[in-house]
Amino acid sequence: MITMDWDGFDPWRVTPLTHTFTDHPLLQRDALVELGKRCRGTNRWYSFNDGVTPGTDFDAAASLYPCGRSAVDSLRAIESAKAWVLLRHIQADPTYRSLVDLAFEPIQAKIERKDPGVYYRAGWIFSASAHTVTPFHIDRSHVLLLQVAGTKTVYVWDPYDPETIDDETRDAFHARHDLSHARWREEFREHAHVFQLAPGEGVYMPLTSPHMVETSDEASTTISFTYDTAATRRMGKVHVLRDALNRIGIHAPPVGKHGAFDAAAWLASSALVAVGGPGGKPPACPSLRRRYTYAVAD
Ligand SMILES: [Fe+2]
Repeated sequence: MITMDWDGFDPWRVTPLTHTFTDHPLLQRDALVELGKRCRGTNRWYSFNDGVTPGTDFDAAASLYPCGRSAVDSLRAIESAKAWVLLRHIQADPTYRSLVDLAFEPIQAKIERKDPGVYYRAGWIFSASAHTVTPFHIDRSHVLLLQVAGTKTVYVWDPYDPETIDDETRDAFHARHDLSHARWREEFREHAHVFQLAPGEGVYMPLTSPHMVETSDEASTTISFTYDTAATRRMGKVHVLRDALNRIGIHAPPVGKHGAFDAAAWLASSALVAVGGPGGKPPACPSLRRRYTYAVAD
């Protein structure tokens, strides 16, 4: 069960949470090793070593800093592996889909009081050695991040903080899954929300809130549950249209400052997405085109 201040819940505000998933059998080492085995030969895992820094290109981290052993062997001995292992899209595994449902069923109505239309449920499990880093990045969904074992520090910035990631970078990210314009600077730490998470604690991060994570001097297990809503879908589409305009040299006003422009962009983008134009096919998120109950393993 995930607990937040649901009465005060603002879907666009970074918010601490607590949870009761720490002792769940599917989140213990032996179960994760078995899930890792079932992910072999698929794209449902990703790993790199402890050479990665906050500024490493997340998409290139696996090839720049490969692990010395397989993901399954790293999961089995994460204390000594000097590795960061992600088991992606766990909802694609029938056993773990039940865990994703267990997380959402008690809270979906609470979320939807403020942020209706929840869809595109997904789960992601991070098993990481001491002193490993999740590079600075943004995600295409709202994120509920839950610390299960060990400790880590999560740095997260407000979803529309202009000093860390600008509108044009978000435009390219939504339209083309292009993160290359997101650049890390050490001074960002000074105005981050900083969460030092222990088991049973977590944080809610709204759509495209920039974040970066460092483990402590012990190994860590974390699970994230992610989802989209009518509002995230609308925001994604606004960015897709802005990206198309940027590419022909037309610079749109700041997101959220001109309601009429954003509404027109949303309508135009919806038409383009529906016919498979910009935003209507990968590398844009499949959630923009269809309201799948569960995320598509892309
Ligand atoms: Fe993330």
